[in-house]
Amino acid sequence: MDFQIRGKLAYVNAGASGIGEAIADLLTQEGANVIVGDNDEQALQEKAHRWTGIVAADLSTAAGTNHAVAQVLRIFGRVPDILINNLGVGNSASFEELSDERWARSFEINLMGCVRMCRALIPGMAALGDAAIVNTGSDLAKQPEPGLMDYGVCKAGLLYLTKALARQYAPKVRVNTVLPGPIWTRMWTRPGGIVDQLIDHYGVEDRDAAVKQFLEDRYLPLGIGQPEDVANAVVFLASPLAKYITGASLDIGGTLRGLV
Ligand SMILES: NC(=O)c1ccc[n+]([C@@H]2O[C@H](COP(=O)([O-])OP(=O)(O)OC[C@H]3O[C@@H](n4cnc5c(N)ncnc54)[C@H](O)[C@@H]3O)[C@@H](O)[C@H]2O)c1
Repeated sequence: MDFQIRGKLAYVNAGASGIGEAIADLLTQEGANVIVGDNDEQALQEKAHRWTGIVAADLSTAAGTNHAVAQVLRIFGRVPDILINNLGVGNSASFEELSDERWARSFEINLMGCVRMCRALIPGMAALGDAAIVNTGSDLAKQPEPGLMDYGVCKAGLLYLTKALARQYAPKVRVNTVLPGPIWTRMWTRPGGIVDQLIDHYGVEDRDAAVKQFLEDRYLPLGIGQPEDVANAVVFLASPLAKYITGASLDIGGTLRGLV
């Protein structure tokens, strides 16, 4: 399929690995010029040859966001046509363990990263007259998990932000969000990641058994997805093929027994 984005300028916020990396690669494969921001400088350097540009920054801070925006404007010479807000980190904790500091940290990463990037770029994108933003939400925005409450609350906030921005900036900027279910990335596999958290939760030693139990408990019959399963949907929503879609949220692989 031709996504009709050849020559478009795209910025992927938090794209050095996992879902963001798959989005950056698919945008590139489809002929877009892509800049990737991330705080993992080593991963960015290793993969830099695949993209138009990279920018290393802590995107959970105002200073890091300002730096990334300045670099994107410098490299492209203008605002991008496509903005992908993919920053998000979930760390399991019970409600009572979630201190004010942990809530504030989660808010900076899982909501403010997107808010700041949109605030900086959306006026210029609106002036282009035909731009698109896609935010990476989560199925947890619609089906709460007690162990990831801070993360899920922020992802629910992204749904509101998506619709509110879509309303304010239509028809010049389309704003949509994807809600992935479980996707096999470092979020799962890193030490202390979701697989380790599930092992603790179920009191089992076997990694596969812990994941299988989780999928059954949460009624996720499609199993675990791959980053490209999300990238395909994100690039579609960012492309002219989705020119009549704004303010939408798309469930990918999960959310089969959620609230809405
Ligand atoms: N993997 C899943 O099951 C899943 C499910 C639903 C939603 N998501 C969402 O998908 C998005 C990508 O997650 P992923 O699974 O690909 O994880 P990942 O860990 O593979 O990728 C996250 C990327 O964000 C970068 N990052 C983290 N903190 C940063 C910071 N402060 N500044 C700049 N970059 C930072 C990391 O270096 C990494 O490259 C997130 O928004 C996540 O919430 C993931």
